[in-house]
Amino acid sequence: MQLHQSTWQEIDKYLETSKGIVIPVGSTEQHGPNGLLGTDALCPEIIAKHAGDASGILVGPTFNVGIAQHHMAFSGTITLRPSTMIAAMHDWVSSLRRHGFEKIYWLNGHGGNIATINAAFAEIYTDGSLDTSGHNGPPLVLNLKNWWELPGIMKMCTKMYPEGHGSHATPSEVAITYFGYPESVKDVAMSPKIAPHGPIHDAEDYRRRFPDGRIGSDPALATVEDGGKLVDATSKALIADFGKFLAT
Ligand code: NI
Repeated sequence: MQLHQSTWQEIDKYLETSKGIVIPVGSTEQHGPNGLLGTDALCPEIIAKHAGDASGILVGPTFNVGIAQHHMAFSGTITLRPSTMIAAMHDWVSSLRRHGFEKIYWLNGHGGNIATINAAFAEIYTDGSLDTSGHNGPPLVLNLKNWWELPGIMKMCTKMYPEGHGSHATPSEVAITYFGYPESVKDVAMSPKIAPHGPIHDAEDYRRRFPDGRIGSDPALATVEDGGKLVDATSKALIADFGKFLAT
């Protein structure tokens, strides 16, 4: 079930049975020569939609632009400042809270968002803690989960791609987007086959170190079939993890 494809009456009805929602959160940033700019937003969106269709979990609209300043030397990348992302997440949560949601699970697709998402959680929780008006509302619980950290998933990725998984523009994330959008599959020869590893600093430094955008990966290994297996396993793991989150 997807919030943005529901009516307000349907959300009213959902809230009678659950106060939980999954929000996919990602980034719009370069993903090497064969990866889509939307990869980091599309992966959690595809996984969450799959889980929502299978289980009835409510999935919100994707927060699809995040912290991508280090990718800004590549065309098409869009970034927020951390302070903007914190403010926007705050407003998303306050809106959902007003309707009665109490448990908000952010399924993240971009490592560069992690620090800012945690800062946003601290900012949002501070609202409640500093509120001395004595409100006795139900507690708000926020959760961050990176899709590749769901139980068993990273192990599956490294088994599927024992060489060239890397850390940016990975074959696993590209495969998931190819499964979601098979018309986007691109046949691009990688040179070098496996991209270099190295530290991440600012945008210009990044482009010098990683000229085609990849870090340590060979995303030419990605296939629609692999993506299907990953989406199947990851969405099942999400359903189980979201269930645990609701129960705690
Ligand atoms: Ni990515």
